[in-house]
Amino acid sequence: MLNGKKIVLGVTGGIAAYKAATLCSKLVQKGADVHVIMTASATQFITELTLQTLTRNAVYTDTFDEREPAVVSHINLADLADLVLVAPATANVIAKMAHGMADDMLTTTLLATTAPVMIAPAMNVHMYDHPAVQHNMRLLDERGTLMIEPGEGLLACGYVGKGRLEEPETIVEVVERFFAQQDKAHVPQQDQDWVQSHLYDQVQGEGRTLLLKGKKVIVTAGGTVERIDPVRYITNDSSGKMGFAIAAAARDLGADVKLIMGNTQAQPPVDVKIIPVQSAQEMYEAVSREWEESDIVIKAAAVADYRPKEVYTEKIKKKGDTLSLELVKNIDILETLGKQKTHQFLIGFAAETQSLEMYAREKLKRKNCDLIVANDVSRAGVGFGTDTNAVMIYDRNGLVEELELMSKEDVAHRLLRIAAERIAGRN
Ligand code: CTP
Repeated sequence: MLNGKKIVLGVTGGIAAYKAATLCSKLVQKGADVHVIMTASATQFITELTLQTLTRNAVYTDTFDEREPAVVSHINLADLADLVLVAPATANVIAKMAHGMADDMLTTTLLATTAPVMIAPAMNVHMYDHPAVQHNMRLLDERGTLMIEPGEGLLACGYVGKGRLEEPETIVEVVERFFAQQDKAHVPQQDQDWVQSHLYDQVQGEGRTLLLKGKKVIVTAGGTVERIDPVRYITNDSSGKMGFAIAAAARDLGADVKLIMGNTQAQPPVDVKIIPVQSAQEMYEAVSREWEESDIVIKAAAVADYRPKEVYTEKIKKKGDTLSLELVKNIDILETLGKQKTHQFLIGFAAETQSLEMYAREKLKRKNCDLIVANDVSRAGVGFGTDTNAVMIYDRNGLVEELELMSKEDVAHRLLRIAAERIAGRN
C-alpha cells in the first residue's frame, strides 16, 4: 500500500530513536521511498549511516549542508513529501512545532511542508503529562497534525507509564491505512475506527466524537471453570480472543470497559479493568454487580451449562471401573439479564454447528437480547481459539449483517459500531 509513497521521516533525540531503524526498514519493505532528517540530538542515539543504508537515500541533519546546487534541500524535501512523519517526536520538537520555530533541518522542513504531518511522541511519563507538552499537543491537534498515541509500559528512564514510542509495526500500519483513506481506496469501517483510535486518543479525542465515549461496557470472555475437586474441573475450548477483541475495540472507541474474564490462554487487552472469575455462578455475580450502571453488556464468554452437583473438598480417589458425575444446570446468565433489562443494550453470542439462523434467533428471543452474534464453529477459521471469525449478526427482525471471514478485531469494531448506532438512534 505504500508503493511509491514519499515519506520524510524526522528522527529526534530520544532513546526511542533506535527504533527508527526498524521503522525505516519496515516502511521501505512496504515500498515507501523514505527520506530521513535527523536532529543533532538524534545522531547521539543512532547513526546517519544506519538510516542511510536502510533507506538507500541521503540522510539530512544540517540545514546548510546543501549537497545539490539545483535545489534548496529543506524546501525540496518539504515539497516532495506525501507525508512527514516524526518518530520519535520528543517534547522539544513538539514544542518547536507548536510554536512555529525553525532552527534546524527538520523544523524548517516541517514549517515549509504542505504535506500531512504525523507525529509519534515518545518521552518520560512526567514529561508527557506536563501541561506544557499537553498544551502543545493540543495546538498541533487543532492544526490537523496527526498523532500516534504513545504506549504504556516500562520506559527506558526506569519509570512505568505512558510515553513509550508506539511499536514500529503499528506506526507502519497507521501510515498504510492513512494513505488508503487519503487515496479514497475502499477502507472498511473497522479500519477507519482503528486508525482513529490510534491517532487521536492521546488528546482524549477532544473535538472529535469517539463513538462510545462515556459509555460503560461490560464484556465477558473465556470459558467458565466448574470445579469437581481441588485438582479437577470442567471447562471448554474458549480462548477468550473474541471477547478480548471486543473489550479492546470498545476501549478504542472511548468506552469505560470492564472485562469479566474466565479461563483463557490469550493475553487480555491493556487499559481495561479486568475482573477474573472461575465458575458460571461467579461470572453471574460479577456481571450482576456491574449491571445497573452498564450501558452495553456483551456476553462473549462460553458459559458451562452444567456443573458438578457436588464439589469434593478432597481429591477424588480412584476406586471402581466407572465413575459417575451428576451435573446440575447452571444459571443462564444472559437469559437472567435479559429478564432484568431496562436501558442496557444486550449482546449475546451463539456458537452453533447446525441450523445457525434458527438457533441464534431463538436464543435472541428467549434471552431478550438486542443483538446476537452467531457463528458456525464447525467452519475452519471460525470460533474457538482462532484469530479470525465469520459471523451473522441478528436482531429481532432478522439478519442485520453478515461478516465474512475476518480478524476478530475487525468483527469487534463492526459489532460495536452497529451497537453504537442503535443506541444513538434510541436516544
Ligand atoms: N450463556 C449464559 N449463561 C449460560 C449459557 C450461555 O450467559 N449458562 C450465554 C453465552 O455467553 C452466550 C449465549 O448465552 O452469549 C449463548 O450461549 P450458547 O452456549 O450458544 O447457548 P445455550 O443457551 O447454552 O444453548 P445450547 O448450549 O443449547 O446451544
